[in-house]
Amino acid sequence: MNKLTTTEELLLQRRTVRKFRNQSLTLEQYTRLMEVARQAPTSNFLQQCTIIHVTDMHLREQIRAICQQQYVGANGDLIVFVVDLYRNHRICAQLGLADDALNSTDAFIQGMEDTLIAAQSVVMAAEAMGLGCVYLGSIQNDIRSIIQMLHLPKLTFPLVALQVGVPDQMPELKPRMPLNLRSFENSYQDVFDLNHFAQYDEIVQTYYDLRDSSKHVDPFTQQVASKLSHTCFKRNDILKVIQDQGLCQY
Ligand SMILES: Cc1cc2nc3c(=O)[nH]c(=O)nc-3n(C[C@H](O)[C@H](O)[C@H](O)COP(=O)(O)O)c2cc1C
Repeated sequence: MNKLTTTEELLLQRRTVRKFRNQSLTLEQYTRLMEVARQAPTSNFLQQCTIIHVTDMHLREQIRAICQQQYVGANGDLIVFVVDLYRNHRICAQLGLADDALNSTDAFIQGMEDTLIAAQSVVMAAEAMGLGCVYLGSIQNDIRSIIQMLHLPKLTFPLVALQVGVPDQMPELKPRMPLNLRSFENSYQDVFDLNHFAQYDEIVQTYYDLRDSSKHVDPFTQQVASKLSHTCFKRNDILKVIQDQGLCQY
């Protein structure tokens, strides 16, 4: 790791890594990442995130099958980030106090905030340590099974996972849309005429995607349309799962 790299440079150069060397994190590295997650900002100081390190090979295989991505649970380490309102429920129950607020959408959003911030803190720390990461929203492909496999109680929800390891590839930096389409002053501005995306569409098409280098990359606007126009959302029961976990009742 080049010691002269600033945090800001690191963030500007970051990219998702999906191929890792056949080695796990050392206990020291993993513990360090967990310390970083532990110190992440937390809404209302409620600390509503729990992290599960999946080391069991059979479990890893099962999770890989759900995610349908060969790098999941393969080389490197698999870490699941769980929105966890159950721990605070246990505290309230033992103190003999009602905790109806834990069933609210507000509490769930706070838990999601904590969980994603913890996950991103881990990503940043891992990258600063020379490691690479890929977020795995794909655990949502079959979230009920993930809940069962990890023995997650009511009032918890597995939000996202990470595969972290020693990078065995250097993907291109994936270009983002220009700031004038994403950042405004004082009020929102609808500046989204398609022609304002034309140049960005061209840039995106030049991106060389290591995931499938045989296919050319579609322009951004087309990617948006094809992802959002028809029922590629195979996770339509997500609200039901969340509510079955006792969350978001009102
Ligand atoms: C919440 C979240 C979930 C994601 N889930 C997956 C996933 O399941 N599999 C995957 O390969 N990449 C996943 N990604 C990575 C994105 O595909 C990636 O960040 C995006 O294409 C931009 O590329 P870059 O990170 O290399 O800049 C996820 C990213 C985020 C933020």
